Amino acid sequence: MIELKMADGNLIDELMELTAQSLSRLEINDHFNIIKEIGRGKYGKVLLVTHRCRGTPMALKVMPKALTKLQGFLREYCISLHLSCHPCIVGLFGIAFQSKEHYAFAQELVIGKDLFAVIQPRVGIPESAVKRCVLQIASALEFIHEHNLVHRDIKPENILLLDRHCCRVKLADFGLTQKRGTLIRLISGTLPYMAPELCAVAVEPGESSPRAEPLSVEPSLDTWAFGVVIFCILTGYFPWERCTPSDDFYQEFADWCRAPAKADTPSQWKRFTPAALEMFSRLLALDATQRCTVGEVRVYIDEDWVRTVPPEGLADNKTLKASSTLSVSRSCIVQQMEVE
Ligand SMILES: Nc1ncnc2c1ncn2[C@@H]1O[C@H](COP(=O)(O)OP(=O)(O)O)[C@@H](O)[C@H]1O
Ligand SMILES: [Mg+2]
Repeated sequence: MIELKMADGNLIDELMELTAQSLSRLEINDHFNIIKEIGRGKYGKVLLVTHRCRGTPMALKVMPKALTKLQGFLREYCISLHLSCHPCIVGLFGIAFQSKEHYAFAQELVIGKDLFAVIQPRVGIPESAVKRCVLQIASALEFIHEHNLVHRDIKPENILLLDRHCCRVKLADFGLTQKRGTLIRLISGTLPYMAPELCAVAVEPGESSPRAEPLSVEPSLDTWAFGVVIFCILTGYFPWERCTPSDDFYQEFADWCRAPAKADTPSQWKRFTPAALEMFSRLLALDATQRCTVGEVRVYIDEDWVRTVPPEGLADNKTLKASSTLSVSRSCIVQQMEVE
């Protein structure tokens, strides 16, 4: 009997196999006019191109073969294609190919900037725009999680804007996306968006193996990163550099979470209303099994998040301890090694 409904994981494996068989070989310049480079990440660049025959503008994600495994490219392309029907996820054209030196696939061109580019350091973006963005990204993440996938790279650089006011936004970059339950043995380096359980499998320069057991990839990793992104875009600061005991800002937050009645609210969190603090405590629950789902942000959407009157002890900005300002340098994606 034919299995009618294939599990998403199997479907992606099949899509990858079929794509590998039919991956055409062509040179970018023969088929596209390159207008300019519109983005760059750790693994490649994104070019604004128009199709030579039809003139259609597209964003071509181009990855050098020297730095990219074919399987990694196929996985990113097939997962992106599989999810691209959601209105808050970047669209695809179903065009993937290899040239002599690159793998590439064509994406819908998102004409605004990315979210990182519009965050004013130390200020953030207006709360109304944050909320519009939060609702759309929550919806995209719920869709991804329903497909038993975890995005794993939620950060402002991967949220694309169709307009400056975040009326329409789209989640992009499925380069690190994995099936739920995949095991991560170690990662090298950390980012401010990584959950504490992920930072526990990070190896620092000079170390050879992580101190923690392998970690299962779960949607709660995205929930944590989503919480950090909301903090960043509301304030223009990172809440911490990394979730390890050596980071004072993280440690202060963790102590407060463990004993909120005993510890003072850390200064960088005092600007938020009780409703926003409750939302953050659920998105950023230290224990991953206690974290809420991304969709639960909707419960808080009609509440104010940032206090209009500073609370006692936060009379002016000088009393605010400066955690890392969102600087012009974009946080790099780290190279990750994983075992299934
Ligand atoms: N479809 C798109 N339209 C417009 N800009 C894009 C598009 N996709 C990516 N970008 C820009 O290119 C940057 C890098 O793309 P991304 O897919 O995140 O690559 P990487 O995997 O190397 O991080 C993004 O941060 C964004 O600024
Ligand atoms: Mg990216």
